[in-house]
Amino acid sequence: MRIDILSLFPDMFQGPLSESIVKRALQKGLAEIHIHNIRNFATDKHHRVDDYQFGGGAGMVMMPEPVVAAIESLTNERKYDEIIFMTPDGEVFNQKTANLMSMYDNLMLICGHYKGLDERVRQHFITREISIGDYVLSGGELAACVVADSLIRLIPGALNDETSALSDSFQDGLLSAPVYTRPADFRGWKVPDVLMSGHDKNIVEWRQQQSIERTITRRPDLLNEDE
Ligand code: ADE
Repeated sequence: MRIDILSLFPDMFQGPLSESIVKRALQKGLAEIHIHNIRNFATDKHHRVDDYQFGGGAGMVMMPEPVVAAIESLTNERKYDEIIFMTPDGEVFNQKTANLMSMYDNLMLICGHYKGLDERVRQHFITREISIGDYVLSGGELAACVVADSLIRLIPGALNDETSALSDSFQDGLLSAPVYTRPADFRGWKVPDVLMSGHDKNIVEWRQQQSIERTITRRPDLLNEDE
């Protein structure tokens, strides 16, 4: 999978994408991430990327020309499965979308800033708009990191234990069961007996039961979702 990220603040990607599972997946060649500075595509002498809103109102708007020049420099090279704009008014990202998008070959993520992106770019170039939740970030960069991380860890070979993505919360529409490690007794708080029993069938049943109970108490909305 190749992910191209278009941003006005390319340095924001240094940390999140260069550690842990994502770092290893990139090193193994399972995925490539290319960060592009939209400002490099501005053509005027001040490298201007934003301008005032027509009709007035607070906040600057990302101008169409630099973003479109950046998009076209990439679409001229290859075909993209989706060109995604990260924005708080997009569809809310979830595990189902992550599973689907983890199978893509080429993905472009565009990070918004200021008051937003000129609507004509959204209408004519963007194929999907994604929000990572009902709150407003200072820009789409952190959201793009969230999306890239969630996709890359699903690529076969990215996780050491291939089955571990399957037992993630949300993967079967339920939250995951609680987990414990040594010591078996920590300050008098004991690990549930069933986990120490060595009885695989009982352990599977206990985890399933815990998942259901957690989902009912914490996220009952998940139980009403289709499929
Ligand atoms: N940009 C600003 N806030 C955002 C959010 N919640 N999701 C995606 N992109 C954003």
